[in-house]
This record gives sequence, structure tokens and C-alpha cells, in this order.
Amino acid sequence: TTAHRIALIPGDGIGTEVIPPATAVLDAVGRRHGVSFGYDEFDWSCQRYAAEGAMMPDDGLDRIRDHDAILLGAVGWAGVPDHVSLWGLLIPIRRAFRQYVNLRPITVFDGVRSPLSGARPGDTDGGVDLVVVRENTEGEYSEVGGRFGRGTDGELAVQEAVFTRTGVARIADYAFDLATRRRNHVTSATKSNGIVHTMPFWDSIVDERASAFPGVTWRSEHIDALAAKVVLDPSSFDVIVASNLFGDILSDLAAAVAGSIGIAPSGNLNPEREFPSMFEPVHGSAPDIAGRGVANPLGAIWSASLMLDHLGHPEAGAEVLTAIRETLRTGETLTRDLGGTATTDDLTRAVLDRLA
Ligand code: NAD
Ligand code: IPM
Ligand code: MN
Repeated sequence: TTAHRIALIPGDGIGTEVIPPATAVLDAVGRRHGVSFGYDEFDWSCQRYAAEGAMMPDDGLDRIRDHDAILLGAVGWAGVPDHVSLWGLLIPIRRAFRQYVNLRPITVFDGVRSPLSGARPGDTDGGVDLVVVRENTEGEYSEVGGRFGRGTDGELAVQEAVFTRTGVARIADYAFDLATRRRNHVTSATKSNGIVHTMPFWDSIVDERASAFPGVTWRSEHIDALAAKVVLDPSSFDVIVASNLFGDILSDLAAAVAGSIGIAPSGNLNPEREFPSMFEPVHGSAPDIAGRGVANPLGAIWSASLMLDHLGHPEAGAEVLTAIRETLRTGETLTRDLGGTATTDDLTRAVLDRLA
């Protein structure tokens, strides 16, 4: 058997409710494929911040550097400002471990009602099946800037978006290469009509890289019009490559179009494998439903499936995705976000039954 060491960071709120389902699924599918998982759990969270004044210890990154992968629930809770909790844990991991690709697949599953009447399941012809390839370490999420003149009438805040040639080229390459293994189409999110320094730069580098992938067709779309099109014609997209902030917004939008953000997974990838990659549901800590055992665990479970792919067990990853698909297809054991009454446990058990 192959053994993997996984760093678990359940975090806050429903993060702590969706990680046990994900590890249960990993253990179950691992047994069938000769893969075993050892977990080291870290209590890094807003609760830790309240007790110790930091989201993670000073040597936190070193403690997880040698793990094969990181599985994270969600971070953020009342009492700690979001910019403090996120820049104290999630964002440093993404940046320090050069997880510059944030891979966010989105599909409509049979049995899940999209709010859009015309959106068909991804495994049917003309169904919704897309991947947002989000740049994950630079762009609008930068530390360059500040707040000036605090408390005065002239107070202002400035944040510089930082795009590097290397950073844009590598995310474009990843997106085009991914498209060659899908339906050979890339949409690049831009805003070169309004954001005049960074976005024309982004466009020109995407254009350059595209020439290395002659089999892939691509187009550039302004983010505003693109957002509308994700609603009006979601099945027209294959791979969408986007900057950090645009990709963040598009992935929640597309996930909601596909039925619920509770299903959407993500892989924060370091493609060179110099560092561990991190897998986490797209959603946050959901304070409005936390503590009631009703969170949808599928975003975390699908993220575990992406982790299996990354660790070199694509058959196991595919089996998890099939278990998710078949569970949803019954239209039973749906959590509340999907219009049902099932609990987190009910839905987890239904998936586990299919893996037994
Ligand atoms: P959120 O994703 O936590 O919640 C948005 C809405 O979706 C809520 O109504 C919530 O109940 C629902 N929802 C989310 N996940 C669900 C699930 N699995 N099952 C059922 N319903 C689900 O977004 P928010 O309210 O903007 O953020 C809450 C906190 O989470 C904030 O502190 C935010 O900064 C943080 N956050 C963290 C991450 C992360 O750790 N990666 C991601 C997003 C938000
Ligand atoms: C996500 C989240 C994070 C992001 C927040 C919590 C910083 O929304 O993973 O999508 O914006 O990247
Ligand atoms: Mn987000």
C-alpha cells in the first residue's frame, strides 16, 4: 500500500463539520485502492487566535511543509476580522507553498436543481461542465498599499494589484494545457477596457502563450459581460482563466448557477510539487448554519477527490466523483442548500454506502 501523510486544518464553523466526511471518504476509497492516509490535525482557527493571538504558530508553515497534501475546511469567525484570519492562515499557505493555480471545477449534477431552468447536467450533451483556473498568489490580492490619514476627512486606502510576467504566463499555460485534456476551449477573463495597466498586460501574455497551443481556441471576455454569460449560457464554457479576484467571484457565481456553493471544490496547486498542495471546499465557514450538522459535505468530499488525483490516484479520485454523482442522481438525501432535509451525516453516509 501507498501511505500518505495529510495535514488537516478543519478551521472554523462548518469547516470542522465537513472535514470528517472528507477523511471518511478518503479512508473508504483508499482501502479499495491500496492507499492509506495518516492525518495530522492542526487546530489553527479563529478560536486559536482568541486564545493565543495568532491563527497559527510562528513555525506553522514548517510544520506542514513536508506533508503530502493539506486538507482545509474553512477559516473565519466572529470576533476576528476576516482580513486578519485569512491573511494569518489561508493566504500565507497559498503564497508560501507557491500554490499559484486554484482549480475549481463546476458541473450541474443530475438530481440537483440549478436555479436556471435551461442548465442541464454536465454528463449530458450540452450540459454545464466548466473549470475556473484562478490565479492564486498575486494580482489583486497584494500587500502593496495602505490606509492613510486615518480618521481624517481625507482618509484613503490604496491597494496595488501586482501582476508579473511569470505569474500570468504560468497560469495561462496551465489553463491552455488543461483545455487540451478537455474540450479545447479557453475563456480569459479581462477588464482591459477599464483597468488600463494590469489587464492589457494580462491579455498580451495570454495571447502570447496561446500560440503554443494551436489546438485550443480561446477568447477574451470582459469580466462584467462574462459574468452575465455564465448565467445566460453556462454550458458554453470549458476552461475559464482568471485573475485572483475575478476567479474568486466567478467560482461562487458558477457554483451557484450549478445548484449550490456547498458542492464546489478547489485545489490550490503547486504544479511543480516543490511544496504540498492544499485542497478545500470553495465555501467558507457559514456562520449562519454552523453547529447544526446540516452543512453540505460534498464540496469537501469532492476536494478530497481532487487531492487523490493530485497524489497520483486518479482511479480513486474518479470513484469518489462517481459516488457523488450517483448519490445526487437519486434525488434523495439532499442537504438543505440543495432543497432537501438531509443532515451532513445522512449525505456522507449515502456517499460512503456507494464506496462500500
Ligand atoms: P460562506 O461560503 O461561508 O457562506 C455563504 C452562504 O452559503 C451562507 O448562506 C452559507 O450558509 C451557505 N453555505 C456555504 N457553504 C455551505 C455548505 N457546505 N452547505 C450549505 N450551505 C452552505 O461565505 P461568507 O458568508 O461570505 O463567509 C463566512 C466566513 O467564511 C467569512 O469569515 C469568510 O471570510 C470566510 N470564508 C472562508 C473561506 C475559506 O476558508 N476558504 C472561503 C470563503 C469565505
Ligand atoms: C476563497 C475565499 C478566500 C479567497 C477568502 C476567504 C480570502 O473566498 O477561497 O474563495 O478570496 O480566496
Ligand atoms: Mn471565494
